[in-house]
Amino acid sequence: MQKRFRSIVVLTGAGISAESGLGTFRDKDGLWTKYDLQEVATPEGFARNPVLVHDFYNARRKNLVEAAPNAAHYALAELERRFDGQFLLVTQNVDDLHERAGSARLLHMHGELLKIRCENCDSVRDWRGDLDLATACPDCGASGGLRPHVVWFGEMPLYMDDIAAALETCDLFVSIGTSGQVYPAAGFVAEVRRGGLAHTVELNLDPSDGFSLFAEKIYGPATDVVPAFVARVLAAG
Ligand code: APR
Repeated sequence: MQKRFRSIVVLTGAGISAESGLGTFRDKDGLWTKYDLQEVATPEGFARNPVLVHDFYNARRKNLVEAAPNAAHYALAELERRFDGQFLLVTQNVDDLHERAGSARLLHMHGELLKIRCENCDSVRDWRGDLDLATACPDCGASGGLRPHVVWFGEMPLYMDDIAAALETCDLFVSIGTSGQVYPAAGFVAEVRRGGLAHTVELNLDPSDGFSLFAEKIYGPATDVVPAFVARVLAAG
């Protein structure tokens, strides 16, 4: 890779956190093979059975607190630190492993598991423990209206204007650990290609649904392929 890039956008999905012990969604034994996403990841499911939904996210929050970033997370933090051009990391993940690895120019388009939102006063707060119907909002005091600050199916992802602006001007787009089945994230590569500026790269264990849209594809575990790819980009100066 001889080209020197000016502006990089990296998109990550659940696959980058798989080797940190956090399950993906659609792989064998993925979360959606064990839970019905309509029940635990939709506003309708939350309205029908909030106890089930709180139990689901409380268990994921416990898992997350015990997990640690891996070499792929650290490699992206190093890329951000050492790359002297524009850099943006967009993650579909609700875990905080990117932050714990040192990433700062980071947008969680599907929200964050260690944050809660009050449907009564709209406040968003950091939260590491369990949440249930009796938990009172630290801001307005109301109980029963607190929910995980995550984007459920049928809800609008976050930061879409910032993401669109970065995709428009990037000259390197890298997609890591995502199956390319969930939009709008799955449509980013096509959006970037329309601009015709960027080199597009897929780093994944297996080909994603959109693999044919990428100019370059490297397959293998994230902890192997991401550090090697970052080293190549940084070597290109
Ligand atoms: N290294 C690299 N890639 C991996 C690894 C690994 N160790 N393990 C799995 N993968 C890849 C799989 O091949 C798969 O393509 O990660 C991808 C995980 O795909 P999904 O489970 O569909 O996760 P993701 O694409 O992030 O899901 C998108 O869907 O459920 C919603 O909101 C949720 O953000 C999520 C969105």
